[in-house]
Amino acid sequence: MLDGKRILLVIGGGIAAYKVLELIRRLREQGASLNVVMTKAAKQFVTPLSVASLSGGKVFDDLFSLTDETEIGHIQLSRAADLVVVAPATADLLAKMAQGLADDLASTLLLATDKTILVAPAMNLRMWLHPATTRNAATLRKDGVLFVGPEDGDMACGEYGPGRMSEPTVILSAIATALQGETQISLLPDIGRAEKPLAGRRLVITSGPTHEPIDPVRYIGNRSSGRQGHAIAAAAAKAGADVTLISGPVALADPPGVSTVHVETAADMLAAVEAALPADIFVGTAAVADWRVETAAAQKIKKSSAPPQFALAENPDILAAVAQRRASRPRLVVGFAAETENILAHAREKLRHKGCDLIVANDVNRAMGREENEVALISPSGSESWPKMRKDEIAAKLVQYLAQMLKDRSDA
Ligand code: C5P
Repeated sequence: MLDGKRILLVIGGGIAAYKVLELIRRLREQGASLNVVMTKAAKQFVTPLSVASLSGGKVFDDLFSLTDETEIGHIQLSRAADLVVVAPATADLLAKMAQGLADDLASTLLLATDKTILVAPAMNLRMWLHPATTRNAATLRKDGVLFVGPEDGDMACGEYGPGRMSEPTVILSAIATALQGETQISLLPDIGRAEKPLAGRRLVITSGPTHEPIDPVRYIGNRSSGRQGHAIAAAAAKAGADVTLISGPVALADPPGVSTVHVETAADMLAAVEAALPADIFVGTAAVADWRVETAAAQKIKKSSAPPQFALAENPDILAAVAQRRASRPRLVVGFAAETENILAHAREKLRHKGCDLIVANDVNRAMGREENEVALISPSGSESWPKMRKDEIAAKLVQYLAQMLKDRSDA
């Protein structure tokens, strides 16, 4: 994805510097080449040796290094890049950039470069919320500096709030977006943007498998863990939505701030969904069993000489039923497609025949029951693929995406 792209990475001195090692690894995996500059403080958090081993190149840290100056020169270093990335961008580095100070290699490069700069701030929440930092961030934005994060979260200092550096996968997407010449990284958390993009919206979501009884102890089921659906419900609640989660049998806790309804079968799930509507957004994440045993036995079936035969009946398609509602159809109906082959083609076909607005497609071999997932989004207007991320990261990004889609439709 980033094949042949040259990134100049400036590592600032903050505890989040350890996450940058993962960013370097992922950048290299995507084919980017790197020059890395570390501030004096950064070297207190990660060693130049680990950075050099992962980045596959030299690490620069000295403004007055005679060898570096004869080999490359700091002006050259600042310009031989397609993008300059600062991560973690500390309060001190942002202040220096806003003021145009140049008293070490990192700040000198940032002043000398003529390339786009993307910063990933990381600091204590009071430092981030301090009027001085707010002023500096506004100045930098006006100067054309791009921001990814910071995000709300637990801090190394034990507090909770804005100031946490975005996860490496999120920074990676921001880098890809910035390299496309974008002047705004709109899908990502950003100071000044509404923190609750789904405030006042209602979202109904299904998650987990369904269990279709054969008799009182046996059932037809599948391997869905419910992790992705539960993560989306939690992320939507965090984004301000009023969320009802209809969950099949899973081994997960109910997400905080979400009203959860527990069901067993597809028929119960459909009834619970209909009871939870109307909504602005419906997301069908559940792996609904396609068939049920037509008549489940009232008593446990005894092991007899001949294995029992079951007549199967088709289950209702919950996603299609919601997408094809005439009265009070949610404005956004989103389905998931778990495929084992021809993922995009099958997803496109699913989008059409179910009548939904967006399909999130994934490879079932890589997703089901795992912590990570790699998805592609297919809508009638096109498709986009996201890099491999944790399911909660996909959830957060999807929620931002849905908020934007809903806003576009309201504006249209
Ligand atoms: O048809 P298929 O199962 O591949 O489609 C997957 C999508 O449809 C998922 O969003 C799933 O939640 C939804 N679905 C449903 N009811 C069914 C089968 C699938 O809502 N009976």
